[in-house]
Amino acid sequence: MSENVKEVGIAQLEEGMNIVAYQGLVEKLGLLDAKSCQWVSHNFPGAKAKVTRGGNEQVVRVDQVKEGDLLMQVEELPSRLHHLVHVTQKLIRELQRQGFKQFLVRPSTKEEQRQQAAREANSFVAKAKKSVAVRENASKAVEQLMDNIAKGVMKLNEVEGLVEQIIESSFGAAMSSLASLKQSDQTYAHCVDVGVIYLGVYKKIMQNKGEKGIFQSEHELLLAAILHDLGKSKVPKEILESTVRFERNSPEMEAMRAHPTHSIELLKELGLPDYCVNLAGYHHVKMDESNFASYPVGFKYADMLYETRLLAIIDIYQALIGRRSYKKSWSAPAAIRFIEALAGVELDEKVWDDFVQAMGYYPVGSLVELDDGSLGFVLKVPQKDLKRPQVVLVRDGSGKDLKPNPMLDLALEKERKIAKDYDPYEIFGEQAMDIFLSLKSV
Ligand SMILES: [Fe+2]
Ligand SMILES: [Fe+2]
Repeated sequence: MSENVKEVGIAQLEEGMNIVAYQGLVEKLGLLDAKSCQWVSHNFPGAKAKVTRGGNEQVVRVDQVKEGDLLMQVEELPSRLHHLVHVTQKLIRELQRQGFKQFLVRPSTKEEQRQQAAREANSFVAKAKKSVAVRENASKAVEQLMDNIAKGVMKLNEVEGLVEQIIESSFGAAMSSLASLKQSDQTYAHCVDVGVIYLGVYKKIMQNKGEKGIFQSEHELLLAAILHDLGKSKVPKEILESTVRFERNSPEMEAMRAHPTHSIELLKELGLPDYCVNLAGYHHVKMDESNFASYPVGFKYADMLYETRLLAIIDIYQALIGRRSYKKSWSAPAAIRFIEALAGVELDEKVWDDFVQAMGYYPVGSLVELDDGSLGFVLKVPQKDLKRPQVVLVRDGSGKDLKPNPMLDLALEKERKIAKDYDPYEIFGEQAMDIFLSLKSV
């Protein structure tokens, strides 16, 4: 065994490792029968199998394993099985689910890690591309829902259908990367973007904590988050869509500030669970309830669920990064820094910690400038170093457009640094999203 290769159990498996061999298969499969022979050759095509046959150990191709063999290990996995070789969170979860327990591993080389990052970036972008239409439909469905509710028609089915579509296609994460790239209106697309960001962040937080959370299902979670501003359906459209800032205590401002109370009534009438009511009713309540920014007046911070405190953060985040026709938006990293300054003042500090652990300081979709003047989009935020994401470069230091787009993993390239961040619209205008969606990383 070469010195870098070691045996590990499933609990020690981590990203950045390469699986050299799958072991522990005798415990899993016993003496091979026809079905398990087929299973091995089907799952590891092109690999080799070390078997004990008639008391002798030998290495054969996986399609040559026979009934009665003991499968000692699967080894020499060909490069097209990279999804079974490069350890990712997804692979770990899948191996746990399938009951694999023992492996031979070696650390990935820097180049292998970079290539793996590029592959993941490309599949993320492909998913984001597919999610564009769903995001638009979901936003239309929210508008339709609110229009109906304004007329007294209480039905959720269209929004429910889109929620189901987002969950089933697992578009959530990919879709939330579009939040800072595409124009969003103040009400409907806002609800959808807050919903998908919330879905991704909440899931990650619960995974990190090893907890299940309070929602019955992902469907319930996403629906509850999307409906957090449902009460805006009772606010006149000219106020909702106004581009001017209302005076404090003006009737318009008061109408706007009434939306959480309307939400509470509507959600109760729709028979939705208490957590929905808390999310919608309390997401504007601040740590100091006497702050004018805290409303509805009289609502106590102590009654605000953890889930609602998280929604409050994401609500502000989306409002800052969401591009509207009449205002300049913030870059995602600038929004993160702004919220950090509010943590412990207006917003829950512990919830902020959980939030930033999930989003990173440069959320996916952020446009950053590196120390050599090159530009790139953030495609993944590592768990360990939140300020050193993976960046796919779109322009080199001399301002020349790059195609294909080199992957730069700042967790590996320690000498490189992010110098600046931008609102992608500021640099690329209306083309920002198209440029993001046509990234081809190498
Ligand atoms: Fe709100
Ligand atoms: Fe909101």
